Amino acid sequence: MQIIPSITEMQALAISLRTQGKLIGLVPTMGALHEGHLRLIDTARQRADVVIVSIFVNPTQFGPNEDFAKYPRALEADAAACEKRGADIIFAPKKDDIYPPGYSTYVTEERISKGLCGISRPGHFRGVCTVVNLLFNITRPDLAIFGQKDAQQAAIIKKMAADLWLPVQIVVAPTVREADGLAMSSRNQYLSEEQRQDAARIYRALREGKRLVDEGIRSPDRVLAEVTHVLSQSRRIRVIYVTMVDRDSFAPTREIVPGKCLIAVAVWVNDVRLIDNLEV
Ligand code: PAJ
Repeated sequence: MQIIPSITEMQALAISLRTQGKLIGLVPTMGALHEGHLRLIDTARQRADVVIVSIFVNPTQFGPNEDFAKYPRALEADAAACEKRGADIIFAPKKDDIYPPGYSTYVTEERISKGLCGISRPGHFRGVCTVVNLLFNITRPDLAIFGQKDAQQAAIIKKMAADLWLPVQIVVAPTVREADGLAMSSRNQYLSEEQRQDAARIYRALREGKRLVDEGIRSPDRVLAEVTHVLSQSRRIRVIYVTMVDRDSFAPTREIVPGKCLIAVAVWVNDVRLIDNLEV
């Protein structure tokens, strides 16, 4: 496995691999890799000849009061985990190479990005779309793997790829969870033991919502009230949003059509922002 920090070297290698007819699979990450990320590598490994994992904590997707500075960085452990999982290349560029002084070009998706996390994290998806475009242009993937854990992000990337005719197939892999249901996240390591217990309530609340839908309830308000109720039973949880949307367009659900909707939540557990979602 190679670790490549240089953009020009990475791009030249990707172009040469493509001319050799190799299928390139890209797994974009911000590092601090956990099993959720590693399963994306497995998916890429099954479908591509060459698996590139990008590790870049992207400053443009963090708000001014967010955790960019303290976001966990663990390149050595990440490299070992990637190698074990069969990745071929880690692309780990420097911040000032990706965004040199005077950098001034951004990509915005303007429909799906408007709701949910787009409201509470203004500019976040603009940063994501911009860096993912950059990563695509540098690593030239045939396919790129994203996690359902960040369902809105995956839907936005799909829309961006379709709208801009990007020559890459977007693959979305299922959410990987801890034994108690908490979605794996690099931010889980910020949680104290008590907060970690509270965070498990997020998935319990989503399951409760799904149970009501399975029982035949078709009113999103009724289901979301129940999800909110379960979350509010913890003193340490503050709800940012609890919503139901069409799983593809992210338009708000008026009447539930089973199999086509997503319950999505974002909460603060103390000062840790966590998101999760469940298809219903
Ligand atoms: P990051 O949070 O590191 O996540 C990288 C990829 O791993 C994303 O596609 C995310 O959805 C996926 N992922 C994270 N936790 C997961 C879990 N528990 N189960 C399945 N997949 C999971 O998302 C980003 O980085 C950045 O926004 C990025 C796309 C790299 C752009 O900077």
